[in-house]
Amino acid sequence: NYEKLWLGASLLLIVGFISTIVYGAAGAGVTMVNDEGGHVNPNNLGNTSGFDDPGVTKIGPSEYEVHVAALRFAFQPGTIEVPANSTVTFYVTSRDVIHGFQIVGTNANTMVIPGEVSKITVNFDEPGEYGIVCHEYCGAGHHSMAAELLVK
Ligand code: CUA
Repeated sequence: NYEKLWLGASLLLIVGFISTIVYGAAGAGVTMVNDEGGHVNPNNLGNTSGFDDPGVTKIGPSEYEVHVAALRFAFQPGTIEVPANSTVTFYVTSRDVIHGFQIVGTNANTMVIPGEVSKITVNFDEPGEYGIVCHEYCGAGHHSMAAELLVK
């Protein structure tokens, strides 16, 4: 009868959802980070697109992507250089504990959580030098955890 059919159909849907979730988690050898940021395995950043070699990538005439890995007590890379008049999207994740990522003098400010990728886009119109600091307490070296951003 119809009730049994519906029950069967919902069960199938549920099994389908669960296998999608499991497959999604287990199938992650190389992780692509989508437009919303995304999830990564903090212990496998060496095989994670972008974070295998953190740094600046040109993606358009005046558009850049910067992958940054935070760890106790540094950012990789420690120096970031981009041209003025550019739009720069930062993808930031952590190799260990929760950190912060703040580009002093801009509104770029996010938590950096292991397993997650924070995404921030900033327009840099003028040349300048910016400090990048960790603003979440992450241990003994927290206060010295910094990097520099050069807009040339
Ligand atoms: Cu990293 Cu505080």
